[in-house]
Amino acid sequence: MAERERVLSGVQPTGQATLGNFLGAFRQWRIQQEEYESTFLIVDQHALTVEHDPAALREGTLQMAALLFAVGIDPTRSTVVVQSHVAGHAQLAWLMECTATYGELSRMIQFKDKSRGSAMVRAGLFTYPALMAADILLYQTDLVPVGEDQSQHIELTRTVATRFNHAYGDIFTIPRAVIPPLAARVMDLSHPEAKMSKSSADGQGNIYLLDSDDQIRRKIAKAKTDLFNEVLYVEDDPARAGVRNLLEILAVLTDREPKDVASNFVRYGDLKEATATAVIEQLSPIRERYQDYMGDRSQLVSWLAIGRERASEVASQTLSRAYDAIGFLPSKEVTYGD
Ligand code: TYM
Repeated sequence: MAERERVLSGVQPTGQATLGNFLGAFRQWRIQQEEYESTFLIVDQHALTVEHDPAALREGTLQMAALLFAVGIDPTRSTVVVQSHVAGHAQLAWLMECTATYGELSRMIQFKDKSRGSAMVRAGLFTYPALMAADILLYQTDLVPVGEDQSQHIELTRTVATRFNHAYGDIFTIPRAVIPPLAARVMDLSHPEAKMSKSSADGQGNIYLLDSDDQIRRKIAKAKTDLFNEVLYVEDDPARAGVRNLLEILAVLTDREPKDVASNFVRYGDLKEATATAVIEQLSPIRERYQDYMGDRSQLVSWLAIGRERASEVASQTLSRAYDAIGFLPSKEVTYGD
């Protein structure tokens, strides 16, 4: 039987995960783990690219593990691993930094966004996509399920992997991004022209996965709509972004097309009510399971140890091949990547 294709994706363990993370990423992961050999990373090293608090990072990493398991990532089926537990990420990242160019990294939209107006831009924020490329290539990944905001980074990963293979031999699988057809960019409820983001200033337009039912209802009730007074799904019209966002959220959660969903509603209030109900139905069991998992930290730690064990195997193989190809002298004393 042919080997199963490999899926890999990652999430930063900073801030509270949002409905955007869920619809753009976690929900796909839950589905894809049934079919593919899957690895999901909690990317604590990426979290160092902006100011951070060490204690919050440590706690956030464990909380993110609990959340992923609560969402339905199955530790017996998928490998869930903390990035810093497998040294190969940092090791391969250096090779990627030396393969990507300054010009390529300068063109990354996320770098431009996150560095704008910041007094101290860490060098790691600039080289971040090289680490992300290493994350992906280390596991010979075929498919990378992500929200739309990550597609430029994956395009760069493909470029860098192709360049490396061309220069040094066929070492890396060239990965493809898998962007969900709907809700690939969930928008902020109060500012529907901007992406819903963990790091947004007031958080009022964010649905957090651990929000109470009441908070979810209140935030969706206050979601910005427009003055058209008709529930229509119109793509590419900035003036209708708020209603479009609600329709996409409801469509994904009820497995329908947004246009069909729109035809069921006349009033914005009813659309909001139905969207809130669907979101609550999805998130409240996750919240309960999350509390259960957080109540048994040693279970979480041992699942992460199993993840590390499994991940290290593939990682060390890829890394030693890449080291060899690039011309590093092998040493009998050194074990790579774990
Ligand atoms: P991060 O932590 O910002 O987000 C995790 C995932 O959630 C998706 N996402 C969204 N999708 C739809 N609408 C939104 N509003 C929204 N907000 C976030 C993101 O697209 C992402 O899929 N660089 C990555 C983490 C990473 C990674 C990797 C991903 C590191 N190494 C290797 C894939 C493969 C990031 O910061 O994601």
